[in-house]
Amino acid sequence: MKILIIGSGGREYAIALKLKSEKHAHELYFAPGNGATLKLGKNLQIADFNELAKFAKNEGIELTIVGPEAPLSAGVVDIFKSFGLEIFGPTKAAARLEASKAYMKDFLAKNAIKTAKYLNTSDAQTAFDFIDTLKAPVVVKADGLCAGKGVIIATSLDEAKSAVRDMLSGESFGEAGKRVVVEEFLDGFELSFFAICDGKNFVSLPVAQDHKRLLDNDKGPNTGGMGAYAPSPLADENLIKKIENEIVKPTLIGMQNENEPFCGVLFVGVMVVNNEPFVLEFNVRFGDPECEVLMPLIDGDLSEILLNAAKGKLAPIKLKDEFAVGVVIASKDYPYKNSPKERIKVGQIPKSSELIYAGVSEENGEIYANGGRVLVCVGRAKSIKQAQQNAYELCKNVEFNGKQYRKDIAWQVLK
Ligand code: AMP
Ligand code: GLY
Repeated sequence: MKILIIGSGGREYAIALKLKSEKHAHELYFAPGNGATLKLGKNLQIADFNELAKFAKNEGIELTIVGPEAPLSAGVVDIFKSFGLEIFGPTKAAARLEASKAYMKDFLAKNAIKTAKYLNTSDAQTAFDFIDTLKAPVVVKADGLCAGKGVIIATSLDEAKSAVRDMLSGESFGEAGKRVVVEEFLDGFELSFFAICDGKNFVSLPVAQDHKRLLDNDKGPNTGGMGAYAPSPLADENLIKKIENEIVKPTLIGMQNENEPFCGVLFVGVMVVNNEPFVLEFNVRFGDPECEVLMPLIDGDLSEILLNAAKGKLAPIKLKDEFAVGVVIASKDYPYKNSPKERIKVGQIPKSSELIYAGVSEENGEIYANGGRVLVCVGRAKSIKQAQQNAYELCKNVEFNGKQYRKDIAWQVLK
């Protein structure tokens, strides 16, 4: 099959590796891809989605998979569909579940899905009055997409009010912050829950946990994610059923009622409080780095699963009886500023692990670190402990100046 993957990160590279492992050979295209996807297929420099759809039509692309949220909320799925192309991902309207926190929270309220108590407003005084009814800490969120930075956990009511002030003035996040969601703080543990959806039906993937903070012991600033593992034993059968029945199913029914059936990956950021799952956020795509640990756990052809989902004919899937741990190797100054470009030297890649390339470029056949999150070392095994060891073995086998990574990925279950 000819398959186009939109995106350029580790998530997209991991999807491509999984496709490459299938028994049928696929021809892969990336828009734009990175310095290492060049070895798996063709990188396209076509930024305009109409032009990209024209290319896909002419080239006979049979399936397009969209990695990141930005093209989804810009309507790439709608454009590809108007060309009669098969594409896996939600429409622009359905992508509002991620693109607008206000829309998402109102949707949850309307469909009686558990989430933190909240207020959605563009008026400062209304927000202040609501804040006065809460106890600190208070969570203040910009409505629009802010590349994961639009959430402030304020430790006092005054701090919450000044966060509201800075957002509404446009100072913090521009247009994305001109509406805010203020919500109560939920105290529990977080899970990343993924469901592949075809509009009506879904299949759940292994439950993952992300590690958002830069440093060991969850210290330091928030990042895009420094590592992940799956499946998490913290999500037992009972909790998974609750998430499926009380969150995923009503969301799919709710979206059908809005006439915007949800096709794509529904990624629920779950906070578990006293064994009850609450929705923190929805994303409408695979997580990164969660995708890197989920791909090796799927038993069967991803191309077939996603094409069926795109056509509204999702079938059950099989999962491997294994664990995967993924450790992100970031560049020296991540997440504060760009780091100098550095050549990457790769040693041996053991059989039970995979090296995923993210923020990299290519020059004369050499691969260079040129982004924040550069590589993800994924280890697989029958136990989490062994999978973790396999991932860290691989971390030792890749070198570039300034490389940094957490040493405690999966600590939640290996304490
Ligand atoms: P979000 O983008 O909404 O998932 O928020 C980013 C992060 O902020 C989450 O992964 C949580 O760690 C934290 N967070 C968001 N909302 C809340 C909440 N209501 N209570 C506690 N933590 C939260
Ligand atoms: N790892 C979290 C995300 O992709 O949003």
